[in-house]
Amino acid sequence: MLDERVRAVLERLERQDAGEREQKVAREQRARQVARTTGQFLFALVAPQTDCEVLEIGGSRGYSSIWLAASVRHFGGRVLSLENDPVKCEAWRANVAEAGLNGWAELIEGDAYETLPAIPDVFDVCFLDAEKEDYERLLELARNKLEPGALIVADNVLSHSETLGAYSRTRQADPTLESVTLPLDRGLELSVVLA
Ligand SMILES: C[S@@+](CC[C@H](N)C(=O)[O-])C[C@H]1O[C@@H](n2cnc3c(N)ncnc32)[C@H](O)[C@@H]1O
Repeated sequence: MLDERVRAVLERLERQDAGEREQKVAREQRARQVARTTGQFLFALVAPQTDCEVLEIGGSRGYSSIWLAASVRHFGGRVLSLENDPVKCEAWRANVAEAGLNGWAELIEGDAYETLPAIPDVFDVCFLDAEKEDYERLLELARNKLEPGALIVADNVLSHSETLGAYSRTRQADPTLESVTLPLDRGLELSVVLA
């Protein structure tokens, strides 16, 4: 169950995101956060897992990180979120702290192409939500940190099918994975690592 602090921050970020979209704020200045139902899906995927280590590539202002951090609080684990925009990093820190989730989520500030290779950890869930044209190369950098049983969730595979259709096809043809496109919100590619 979401506590009041988490719920309040998520609702504020949802109002902020809706306002920015309505006012047509420039794309790079917006949070570009996942839909609430995608947040709920991520929560449902992670919450039942024990000691779930989550890697998030593209943390923005922390909306999806808060869903993930609230979910690892149930049976243990941690969220490591990567974000390179300093303004968004500042907002991420403030939002995660306000939600009372500092103990469950950590931000690594910097370009994921540089920060990701230096991370020595292994993860149970990888949430890929950075620039669409980078998914392939970023997943390549994360792949050796994902062992059999790990899950990969990539957002926007239907909203950006011209770029990410190839991502889905490649995952579905990969014999080391089982992968399916979920038609939820902007489209999620859910892959389980088999080998
Ligand atoms: C779609 S938004 C993420 C939204 C976030 N997952 C949420 O739901 O709240 C993508 C984010 O990825 C960040 N990003 C893009 N390329 C990156 C890179 N190479 N390294 C780190 N962050 C990156 C952007 O600055 C942006 O904030």
